[in-house]
Amino acid sequence: MRSISLFSVISLASILLWSSFTELSLPVNDMPMEMTADSLKLKAPVAVKEIIQAKCYDCHAEGGEEEAMKDLLWDEFPSLHPEDQMYLLDDIVESIEDKEMPPADHLKEHPEDKLTRQEARTLIEWASALANDLDQG
Ligand code: HEC
Repeated sequence: MRSISLFSVISLASILLWSSFTELSLPVNDMPMEMTADSLKLKAPVAVKEIIQAKCYDCHAEGGEEEAMKDLLWDEFPSLHPEDQMYLLDDIVESIEDKEMPPADHLKEHPEDKLTRQEARTLIEWASALANDLDQG
């Protein structure tokens, strides 16, 4: 009997140890998800945020390209006057439709940053719908 209870004490201890260990490691595993789309302050569907994060954010965010930051800073977008948001959204749609963004010289070195047709459509639909809403309001 003594040896059995010692065995159960040890196994209970190792289960506790194991579960506290996995609990500790959980937040770390969750981090990459939060670091991607949700680090963007923009209120938009996750699908939209993911595209922006992957294909626009490197240049159009703090620490990005100086010329790009002058035109568009995604993190400041939500605090712009609605009318300025509207104009910027029109610019965004145009830059995607005309295939100006991401810039061609960048795509030569990073072809993987090119917007797929589906991504372009998702961004354009989101931006035009939001511009329309702002126009109505
Ligand atoms: C490799 C860097 C880079 C990436 C990636 C990039 N841009 Fe730009 N963007 C620039 C630069 C530089 C400018 C300013 C000079 C210019 O217009 O070419 C700019 C300007 C703009 C402008 C304002 C001027 C215009 O052309 O209408 C918009 C809108 C824009 N970008 C949208 C986007 C969107 C949307 C994405 C993602 C799909 C994106 N950019 C990705 C570098 C970038």
